[in-house]
Amino acid sequence: MRDVAVIGVGINKWGELWEHSLRNIFVDAALKAIDDAGVDHVDSMYVGCMTSGLFVGQEHLSSLFTDYMGLNPIPATRVESACASGGVAFRSAIMEVASGMSDVVLAGGVEKMNDLDGGGVTFALATASDQEYEAYNGITFPGLYALMARAHMEKYGTTREQLAHVAVKNHANGVLNPDAQFPMKITVDTVLNSVEVADPLRLMDCSPVTDGAAALIVCPLDMASKFSKATPVRVAASTMGTDTIALHSRSDLTFLNSTATAAEKAYAMAGVGPRDIDVTEVHDCFTIAEICVTEALGYFEKGQGGAAAEAGATARDGEFPVNPSGGLKSKGHPVGATGVAQVVEIVKQLRGDAGERQIKGVKRGLTQNMGGTGGSSVVHILEAV
Ligand code: COA
Repeated sequence: MRDVAVIGVGINKWGELWEHSLRNIFVDAALKAIDDAGVDHVDSMYVGCMTSGLFVGQEHLSSLFTDYMGLNPIPATRVESACASGGVAFRSAIMEVASGMSDVVLAGGVEKMNDLDGGGVTFALATASDQEYEAYNGITFPGLYALMARAHMEKYGTTREQLAHVAVKNHANGVLNPDAQFPMKITVDTVLNSVEVADPLRLMDCSPVTDGAAALIVCPLDMASKFSKATPVRVAASTMGTDTIALHSRSDLTFLNSTATAAEKAYAMAGVGPRDIDVTEVHDCFTIAEICVTEALGYFEKGQGGAAAEAGATARDGEFPVNPSGGLKSKGHPVGATGVAQVVEIVKQLRGDAGERQIKGVKRGLTQNMGGTGGSSVVHILEAV
């Protein structure tokens, strides 16, 4: 297999983008990535999107986007793994380049969620849970993660304040990200006093409803200097794991098996361990998710993720800086785009292009992108060249 590099990144300002259509948002991010890479052609494209049919009534995104980017007749494929769709799009592009099938591949992600009202959004998102056993009986995604939070609190003594610290830290990082949807500073009290969504989770424990896109250009590492006007970043590992779609089928609601499996394989593929990772972007769709993920990645012992967040271990100047972009909580969570945007942030950090939120001396970064309550997880490790 060939070594693969990311040579271009593109993202737009996320939020409620009423004045833009789904295609505009995607094309804008994709053209930025093409420009950043300095490539004059694209051989193939992957698009991560969870459910544009439900959100805006549009399917067949492969043709829509190649058409509006003037890329016809290249091959293009839309991939779906709920909120991990973006991570899977990136992984698909890596595999196509690594195999020798194509040289320059675009991996993008997009979702336009705000065209639906709250009930419609909740229904669309719930299609990523087990329809027959979970959604049909009325449980929503905030409800499912609330069950995980309650189980973590019961089993390990994790506190409401510790959950709040995750949101406070991610909003503090988001203030430094000009593309973030909610770049405002908050306190533990702001979180504790925000409206209850699903006990014990409050509004400020939840990622928002977001319109946005992100894109990457990948090519063989040994061709990067030929194509790229930016510094290439090497893909050291690309892995994926799965687990039961329904929470009730798991023996332990507090542990994310799909993430742990993908992480273990990724460390082996890259020849590193958790302590070798300098910067991380994780799937903090709810505050409890970041706590469970940092444990599944092996950064902290099982049950210690909450205490670590409270102690500042995941802050930008902590032992394991997590979500310097602001994460899903502050930057936003256009579900199909999230996994791609995480890679955009890590590439910027490794190139030294992350502006005010740049973490000094970073050489290796990790992304973890998750579908549903962890029914699927994608992990990537990236290295400065
Ligand atoms: N964080 C911070 N502020 C938020 C927010 C969030 N997650 N969601 C909304 N807000 C703000 C809005 O800007 C608005 O502020 P304003 O009154 O100053 O204008 C206010 O809160 C109310 O917004 P609204 O859109 O009416 O909220 P809502 O009640 O319809 O939705 C949630 C709130 C939490 C239910 C919704 O954001 C949600 O479902 N989040 C989870 C998404 C999800 O499950 N994703 C998939 C994960 S697997």
